[in-house]
Amino acid sequence: MINIINLSKFYGRFAAVNNLNLHVPKGDLFGFVGPNGAGKTTTIRMVCGLLKPTAGYIEIGGFNFAQDPDRVKRCIGYVPDFFGVYDNLKVKEYMEFYGSIYGIDDADIRRMTGDLLELVNLRNLEEQYVDTLSRGMKQRLCVARALLHNPQLLILDEPSSGLDPRARVEMKEVLMNLNSMGKTIIISSHILADIAEMCTSVGIMNHGRLAAAGKMSDILEIGVDKHHLIISINGNMEEAVSRVKELPEASIWQVRENEIVLSCSGEEDQINRIVMSLMKAGVMIGGFRKEEQSLETLFMQLTEGSAATVNPGVGNMQGRM
Ligand SMILES: Nc1ncnc2c1ncn2[C@@H]1O[C@H](COP(=O)(O)OP(=O)(O)O)[C@@H](O)[C@H]1O
Ligand SMILES: [Mg+2]
Repeated sequence: MINIINLSKFYGRFAAVNNLNLHVPKGDLFGFVGPNGAGKTTTIRMVCGLLKPTAGYIEIGGFNFAQDPDRVKRCIGYVPDFFGVYDNLKVKEYMEFYGSIYGIDDADIRRMTGDLLELVNLRNLEEQYVDTLSRGMKQRLCVARALLHNPQLLILDEPSSGLDPRARVEMKEVLMNLNSMGKTIIISSHILADIAEMCTSVGIMNHGRLAAAGKMSDILEIGVDKHHLIISINGNMEEAVSRVKELPEASIWQVRENEIVLSCSGEEDQINRIVMSLMKAGVMIGGFRKEEQSLETLFMQLTEGSAATVNPGVGNMQGRM
């Protein structure tokens, strides 16, 4: 559905998006995750044709953006991360207003408005003024509006931010429903847990680059149900790291100031074996402890510091999407 190749956006010498490569297949519910400032909005705005890339290639639904921008735009429904002010405009009028902008004829607008408001649970609020809606309702109204021209692809920038838990659940249900109806959906969020339950695949972005991407189940596999064995080192770290690297049973996840973090299954037997073999190899161990890997710690590790500290297996995920 989406093919992004070597996409970059520079502001002066600052790279907001740096050589991004991403493929999102048709039918995916794709989560685009990363901390604030990672470059999610910049990427989304380029994909939607609202911002000109410094370099790179974007193809959507088989159409090349540079050659056929109108065809591409017709494939996309975009829900931005802000909602404007609409004085004296009722929900129904809001839909009619946008429908006319898209050039849809009046009868179709009326039919679509009914169907779409039903879909996002706002049918009974047709006559209500837009400005009196809750934030969650406004977000869902924005989704209904973005679907007026029946796009194959729906892109939402931080649709859950600022929503209370109930509104989040309602938004999630709407999106999962749309996905099951065949829409390809891309959602950005700065909270991985927010999208972990609903997305089929995920890309984790940091400092304008993709730190990891793949099927949600593969990404979760990197983290959840795995444990870390944290070994504190007395003495020379470099020497300790090179000794550990020589051991086939020890797989280094991360090197910290005085600690080496290994991936392990968490079983006592395995931990004993690893620690014994490290000691035999002459690694000066000051102590060791086990740490459970959670979605949050995975996300923190992928997005803090450089992606280079992450297990090289993660980078390979990119090819597997
Ligand atoms: N118009 C701009 N001029 C300069 N820097 C910008 C501009 N827009 C965004 N940036 C910078 O680009 C980076 C990525 O921003 P953004 O795409 O909004 O991140 P995200 O949506 O992931 O929070 C940020 O550091 C931001 O400050
Ligand atoms: Mg943003």
